[in-house]
Amino acid sequence: METILHVEKLSKSYGKIKAVNQLSFEVGRGQVFGILGPNGSGKTTTLSMLLDLMPPENGEFSWFGQPPSKESRKRIGSVIESPNFFPYLDAVINLKIVADIKDKPYDDIDEVLKLAGLYERRFSKFRTFSFGMRQRLALASALLGKPEVLILDEPTNGLDPQGIAQIREIIALVASRGTTILLASHLLDEVQKICSYVVVLRKGIMLFGGNVKEVLAVSDSIELSASDMPALIAAVRELPGYISFIETEGMIQVHFSEIVNTAGINTFLYQRGIFLSHLAEKRRSLEQHFLELLQETP
Ligand SMILES: Nc1ncnc2c1ncn2[C@@H]1O[C@H](COP(=O)(O)OP(=O)(O)OP(=O)(O)O)[C@@H](O)[C@H]1O
Ligand SMILES: [Mg+2]
Repeated sequence: METILHVEKLSKSYGKIKAVNQLSFEVGRGQVFGILGPNGSGKTTTLSMLLDLMPPENGEFSWFGQPPSKESRKRIGSVIESPNFFPYLDAVINLKIVADIKDKPYDDIDEVLKLAGLYERRFSKFRTFSFGMRQRLALASALLGKPEVLILDEPTNGLDPQGIAQIREIIALVASRGTTILLASHLLDEVQKICSYVVVLRKGIMLFGGNVKEVLAVSDSIELSASDMPALIAAVRELPGYISFIETEGMIQVHFSEIVNTAGINTFLYQRGIFLSHLAEKRRSLEQHFLELLQETP
């Protein structure tokens, strides 16, 4: 698969705060790629560097196999900050202004307005738009000129469930046409629903990366303890489907990428001379799962 974006040990500090710390990943053409992390984990800082809005402190990245340039930048559409349009002008004129600034033709204005579900309201002044419509107009403006890559920072922030569904539908449609999408979100559920690949950030450091189904697999976890905890931990890492564990008060909570069979685990460990003093299945909500992922020791 063609690599669209290559990021290599990218770092950025604000004074003493390391906002992004040695971040490396690759995005392939046509992927819907998520950057998932809690507030303050460095998502916006990362996207800002990739869009040349701020210089990296260390590390580098390339777009389309080339060092970043004005030319490569033109092939990328983005929505990073809250939309800024002229309140007393209508949607069409606002998009014409954006097209002029970005040096794009006007011929797909109708198309992007339809895609964003705003075609009926195209002659309404921007100030009469609801919050959700404003977000969708920003998305429409980022799609002008058919960019090969679309970068979105928290695309559904502040929207109600219907607004969220509309934005997700638009993203899915854009992705289905082959556009590569890079999106930052603090919502596990959003990344799981929209993205195929993900990197999980905490305090600027990448914790995990890979296929969403594997990395964010919702599995029930298993609590285990044994008298020889180091031997247990070593053996657990060998279990099929093992992802990670958290250690708490004399036991470990282990996560797997697939549904596991407790009898199988017992036998596996027994064969390695480990006698369990405790084995229990635990069920978690998605949100719990994400919070736990952020604490885990891979
Ligand atoms: N202009 C700035 N000056 C100083 N510190 C900053 C600045 N911008 C971001 N930071 C700090 O850098 C870290 C990463 O911030 P960033 O905005 O990239 O995180 P984020 O993952 O986008 O968070 P959120 O989910 O809240 O949008 C935070 O600790 C933040 O306080
Ligand atoms: Mg942010």
